[in-house]
Amino acid sequence: MPASCILGTGSYLPERVVTNADLETMIDTTDAWIRERTGIEKRHVVVDGETCCDLAEKASRNALDAAGLQASDIDLILVATTTPDQFFPSTACLLQHRLDAHGCPAFDLQAVCAGFVYALDVADKYIRCGAARHVLVVGAETFSRVLDWTDRSTCVLFGDGAGAVVLGAGDQPGIISSRIYADGAYKDLLQIPGGHGNGRPDEAFVEMKGNEVFRFAVTKLWRLVDETLAANGLSRSDIDWLIPHQANLRIIQATARKLDLPMERVVVTVHEHGNTSSASIPLAFDQAVRDGRIQRGQTLLMEAFGGGFTWGSTLIKY
Ligand code: ACO
Repeated sequence: MPASCILGTGSYLPERVVTNADLETMIDTTDAWIRERTGIEKRHVVVDGETCCDLAEKASRNALDAAGLQASDIDLILVATTTPDQFFPSTACLLQHRLDAHGCPAFDLQAVCAGFVYALDVADKYIRCGAARHVLVVGAETFSRVLDWTDRSTCVLFGDGAGAVVLGAGDQPGIISSRIYADGAYKDLLQIPGGHGNGRPDEAFVEMKGNEVFRFAVTKLWRLVDETLAANGLSRSDIDWLIPHQANLRIIQATARKLDLPMERVVVTVHEHGNTSSASIPLAFDQAVRDGRIQRGQTLLMEAFGGGFTWGSTLIKY
């Protein structure tokens, strides 16, 4: 059975940067509060006319270049996004057209901040069963468009961006293990309530009970990390890099403590990017690959938690 190997990574951030100091001029907040509670210092935000597909396209082209492949080599495109540019066609179809690739299946996958690990799980299964040889997996978000910029409890937390990986069928270990979960019983704790189906089309902004989400996320991620290691016969010291979803520095630190990992072996971008939802893991991954921290042969653990609730982990021999 073929393994899913990482052939290349890419990412893209919009040029416009919004700092905590900028937010101080817009809402009743302080740089100190945001840094202390979240670790965030700034975030990138799209400008008018800049789309989720624009970000996805740039990240994808970078990943294809890194993999040494053409878009025509790809036989499945998956885009994890919660903020597509339109209801349909999917961002994956829009991206496929931009890349001038034709015919291969392309679809979006919506698992909010766990979207990228969900998409890796699907891609891995396509590759393992022989249905695809090369899969483009993208996490792309324009969360700035679904924020109430007068709500200080949410608007300081998020940013926009995209990250991508090209997976290829190979005989190297690649993705060693993938675990994804959901529990819709927690739907009200973190949501964008708006929708045509529920008669609330105008309520299209993020709402979050931050404290409760925080507690649940830490507990679930601790259990997930333990389960992932045990199921694969690994110990904490076998992990070279933790690449966590970048929601909050305090959640990341708690997970690192659980793994006994020094923060030097955790890829952290939340201070520079904020929470870019499904883009946060591939953005962090690409940054650490490109700056040389992550090396071939190392063992990587990705973990994420998001609205739904959804959560999951991916263990990779890079
Ligand atoms: N600036 C200043 N004060 C603020 C701000 C702000 N931006 N936001 C809230 N406050 C105030 C509150 O009003 C409150 O004031 P009060 O005590 O007078 O009522 C006080 O700060 C404390 O608020 P809390 O919500 O209790 O602050 P907390 O320490 O819990 O931090 C935070 C909030 C950062 C949101 C945290 O709960 C968190 O990170 N939660 C988890 C987020 C997460 O992981 N989400 C999952 C992924 S996201 C996704 O899937 C879309």
